[in-house]
Amino acid sequence: MTEFAKGLEGVIAAETQMSFIDGQKGILEYVGIPIGELARNSTFEETVFLLWNHRLPKKAELEAFNRELRANYSLPDAAFARMKAIPADAQPMHVLRTMVSGLAMHDADPNANDVESARKKALRILGCTPTIVAAFDRFRRGLDPVDPDPSKNFAHNFLNMLNDADPTEAMARAFEICMITHADHGLNNSTFTARVIISTLSDLYSAITGAIGSLRGPLHGGANEGVMKMLGEIPTVDDVEPYILGKLERHEKIMGFGHRVYKAHDPRAAELKALAKQLAHDTGNDDLYEKSFKIEQVMDREVGSRGIYANVDFYSATTYHCIGLKLDLFTPMFALSRIAGWSGHVIEQLADNRLFRPKADYIGPHAVAYTPIDKR
Ligand code: ACO
Repeated sequence: MTEFAKGLEGVIAAETQMSFIDGQKGILEYVGIPIGELARNSTFEETVFLLWNHRLPKKAELEAFNRELRANYSLPDAAFARMKAIPADAQPMHVLRTMVSGLAMHDADPNANDVESARKKALRILGCTPTIVAAFDRFRRGLDPVDPDPSKNFAHNFLNMLNDADPTEAMARAFEICMITHADHGLNNSTFTARVIISTLSDLYSAITGAIGSLRGPLHGGANEGVMKMLGEIPTVDDVEPYILGKLERHEKIMGFGHRVYKAHDPRAAELKALAKQLAHDTGNDDLYEKSFKIEQVMDREVGSRGIYANVDFYSATTYHCIGLKLDLFTPMFALSRIAGWSGHVIEQLADNRLFRPKADYIGPHAVAYTPIDKR
């Protein structure tokens, strides 16, 4: 194939058994199970097992998986010491990327790329990244970190480490649903980054580090921060219409809308919308949901016919805000969940690897004479 596809749009560059997306019909399935079914019935841990094993676990398998994951909640002391040296005003995504990279130095065999080793490394990264994010947030607030609690599940443990207090059941479950809905999504930019890196037979730490770097861009996982900033710029629900119309007139993008693959409603947004509404009500943030809902109405009316609808980032922003997360922790939350997808893709890539090496179409001049520096 020699045709140039800018942004690799429409190009199939890998095979996966994890998630299926039909962007025209608004379908997302993990291993065949619709995302809504998982959001309503599953746990994050079970979803990760599903993605990595391509089937739901039996009870004993899930218990064993939970034990293994929880055994990886802790961070090596030396890694904690390194984190304390990071400036308090550093951005959490930069901190997360740096700390995940550093985890390789605490692995006796960081380059082992057989499937079993990659799986163990994936559990290590997935297990301790919530500890990294929570501890950094506490360091920068001048607080001591809270030890992870292996008696608690992924979502509950993270919120407890962040706030040194048990979350309400509703908040822990809302956070868990965010983790489930963000866990995997085909060959998105950060997942592609992870697969490209591992295809050189580098190592899982490098692949996840690169993927975190990709995710933080405002056109990808960074959009949820942009959504919250936008909601902050709109004083009341009555100001939504002129604000959105003004932006569209100036050809500015509305964060949390549009998707390279979905040209119908993003099914993840539908799940998160109901969650955001309930949480906003429970936490006295009804205005936030009402502004979001109005933005969606105006966008549907103005650009819905062009297939530009709310994406996963739109309502996750309100959800995270209502859970009490600071703005710059929104994208790290996406990363904590997507580590599941990135790792699964790395394992798939390793199982049937071929080095990624596309070509560039050279559009510069040819046969140019070299000009000595004093003649330029
Ligand atoms: N607001 C307004 N207009 C939009 C938006 C938007 N959010 N998204 C796309 N458009 C318009 C573009 O202006 C463009 O219009 P034009 O043809 O008149 O120039 C047209 O739709 C096509 O837009 P592209 O950016 O070329 O489409 P692409 O397939 O690359 O879009 C993308 C995907 C990058 C996500 C885009 O919709 C966007 O920038 N959205 C805002 C950022 C965002 O929410 N990102 C999160 C994506 S989901 C995720 O990563 C988890």
